[in-house]
Amino acid sequence: MIFTKDDFGPDFHWGVSTAAYQIEGAHDVDGKGPSVWDHFVSQKGKIQDHTTGNHACNHYHNYSEDVGLIQSLNIPNYRFSIAWSRIMPDGIGYINQDGVDYYNRLIDECLDKEITPWVTLYHWDLPLALQKKGGWVNREVLGWFEDYVSTCVKLFGDRVKNWMVLNEPMVFTGAGYFLGYHAPGIKGIKNFVPAMHHATLCQSLGGRIIRDLQPEANIGTTFSCSHIDPASPEPKDVKAAKRFDALLNRLFIEPALGLGYPVEDLPIARRVEDYLKADDEQNMVFDFDFVGLQNYTREVVRHNWYMPYLQGQIVKAEERDVELTTMGWEVYPKGIYKMLKKFNAYDKVKSILVTENGVAFDDQLENGHVKDPKRVKFLQSYICEVLKAKRSGVKVDGYFIWSLMDNFEWAEGYEPRFGIVYNDFETQKRIVKDSGYWYSRFLKSSKVMLNDELLKSSG
Ligand code: BGC
Repeated sequence: MIFTKDDFGPDFHWGVSTAAYQIEGAHDVDGKGPSVWDHFVSQKGKIQDHTTGNHACNHYHNYSEDVGLIQSLNIPNYRFSIAWSRIMPDGIGYINQDGVDYYNRLIDECLDKEITPWVTLYHWDLPLALQKKGGWVNREVLGWFEDYVSTCVKLFGDRVKNWMVLNEPMVFTGAGYFLGYHAPGIKGIKNFVPAMHHATLCQSLGGRIIRDLQPEANIGTTFSCSHIDPASPEPKDVKAAKRFDALLNRLFIEPALGLGYPVEDLPIARRVEDYLKADDEQNMVFDFDFVGLQNYTREVVRHNWYMPYLQGQIVKAEERDVELTTMGWEVYPKGIYKMLKKFNAYDKVKSILVTENGVAFDDQLENGHVKDPKRVKFLQSYICEVLKAKRSGVKVDGYFIWSLMDNFEWAEGYEPRFGIVYNDFETQKRIVKDSGYWYSRFLKSSKVMLNDELLKSSG
């Protein structure tokens, strides 16, 4: 048997994803205000390789060539995010026309080239001015977010039909407001719980605003997720794994579906009661047209009595004799199948799009060429699992690779290269990797197959 893109059906959405702070650069031009990430990277010791996203891929100026590249690779859908502080430099009030013009140009360029834009409204770059007022910890964020979302929908909704409200709320609240290794670099449960609750409320609020202003829009929001296995069958490891699953995979999706926070399996989430107001439970719910599933790896969890709040810890992949990526994550294709099954099991989920999947490996540019067979194999085996899930009845309707090109990988800087296009950050030259050429052939021709051996063996 040979499997090709045709096996996914004609309506399946194939694409690539990026995010504003990771690629745009131009951090202070044309009236853009600073974001929490602009501020975070300016502090010593926050970014592993001491770099910043100040210039990144300079997509702000190279967007036209980059969209041309997407077109030349036969990729029909482009997911990118809007930098809030480009549109509203202070987060509220004044609208920066130059920033608006940039997104108008980008959207128009996509449409001219017959590429459908998929826009994420919030991919972690909160305007710094709002962080100074407490950021996601301050309940006023609901009003700020309402303003920002309605501004974007009014400005771009005539041409953008596909919206995602938030990118991975678990990551920006967990890494940014609990562990402090992402912007704004704040720590502690007292910050995390209100930030989490306000993000949950904004997730659905954003959905409602789009629906009101643009009833025909296709509205989603995205979730990070990783299949979780207990380190052993012992009940205490199994229970710890359940707590991590509730935290990493259920905390933000379940309230949106009307199931509330998973407090039974994650007792610490009960602390949200201190921040709950009348009607919050109903206001957390929104009937999304699709959920964006973002998956890279799996986690193994063991009980650890001394670990605060969770009484458990992640067993690092490097301690487990498994194939690793540059991020130190395990390559685990079956995980995407399991997560698709898990999300599909919620009956209110109407459609799932894989809005991010991809990998960083140690790519080398040699004689103007990047051979990345490990990435080709990674993508093929994950895509095979998506097909397997689809064939078993999962409502999965799209797959977007993270990422179009190598970019600023947050606290890890530029070392991890996630692109299917290599970027030379000195010259800003883009060089399509073998994986990019493979994806392009796969999307173009009904004859380019996925390796069916992979499909069989990954079962
Ligand atoms: C994020 C991206 C990030 C990628 C790889 C996701 O968590 O949405 O911004 O670059 O994973 O770490």
